[in-house]
Amino acid sequence: MEEKEILILAIESSCDETAAAVVKNGREVLSNVISSQIALHTLYGGVVPEIASRKHIEKINQVIEEALRQAGVTLDDITAVAVTYGPGLVGALLVGVAEAKAISYARKLPLIGVHHIEGHISANYIENRDLEPPFLCLVVSGGHTHLVNVADYGRYEILGRTRDDAAGEAFDKMARAIGLGYPGGPKIEKAAREGNAEAIFFPRAKISGSPYDFSFSGVKSAVLNYINGCKMKNLPIVPADIAASFQKAVVDVLIDHAMRAAEETGAKKLAIAGGVASNGALREGMRKACEEKKIAFYHPSPIFCTDNAAMIGAAGYYEYLAGTRHGWDLNAVPNLKLGDR
Ligand code: KG4
Ligand code: ZN
Repeated sequence: MEEKEILILAIESSCDETAAAVVKNGREVLSNVISSQIALHTLYGGVVPEIASRKHIEKINQVIEEALRQAGVTLDDITAVAVTYGPGLVGALLVGVAEAKAISYARKLPLIGVHHIEGHISANYIENRDLEPPFLCLVVSGGHTHLVNVADYGRYEILGRTRDDAAGEAFDKMARAIGLGYPGGPKIEKAAREGNAEAIFFPRAKISGSPYDFSFSGVKSAVLNYINGCKMKNLPIVPADIAASFQKAVVDVLIDHAMRAAEETGAKKLAIAGGVASNGALREGMRKACEEKKIAFYHPSPIFCTDNAAMIGAAGYYEYLAGTRHGWDLNAVPNLKLGDR
């Protein structure tokens, strides 16, 4: 007999994307609909939480209907509803959580709350059907920079984390400082292609006693000091060179720490995840470093790196198999820790 198909309807609304997806058996994406608010927040130079929540409530039903339509299914075909319940902006998360509860209550479907970072990590399962734990994962997004040992599905050991800004946050702030605008990551990457990464040396922070932890405040100050120095001495400021040199400083540290962790833990597989994982310099650098050390390297396509609901559907599937079921008291948890239930 053919095995039962498990279809997860997944919802993601933790930041500035209203997203819904239908995912079959954890790895096959039947639809992945994303309504981005980027253009709206660009007016303010960053995400305005209040506006994000309002936009989610306006869009969420259309996005879900579109996800079902594109997948060619109805709610009758859905096995369970998975939703991001943290971490993220509380007002934004609440929209997705309330929506997921309403659907699962009305249709008597299991409700599965998913950790946003578990979603980012699980994005790697979508296009790499052979990838299974254990593996190392570098999660680099706008809110998080974690080096994680994925011991098993749903079992995570955090080896290192940022002590200050997240990598994506540093990209966003530096883009603003050199006048490239929001969102910073893609703008810095584009500018860097025209620049010289060796033009300016920015520091690579090391934290004594914590070789897997990160700090990006030093490189950030160095860029700001460099810009101020140029202004004071009336020297030309070349945004492309600053972008390329800054990007290299961040990417070097990310690769260095990830490779060190891989070597010291004997990992045979390394994955990257989160918005910054769509950065070409990071992907290329990590691919080369892994090739040298004979470590298999995995990364999602850019559309599955930045926030989306397909990744929540992949994570939700493995949580479903593990028996995770949330009750009607599920709430948004803005500072949810990885591994919490
Ligand atoms: O994962 P994500 O969509 O949202 C969070 O969970 O935070 O990540 C967004 C972050 C932003 O900081 C954005 O600037 C960064 O990812 N990002 C990039 C690139 N694309 C997005 N950073 C560097 N290079 C990129 N190409
Ligand atoms: Zn994210």
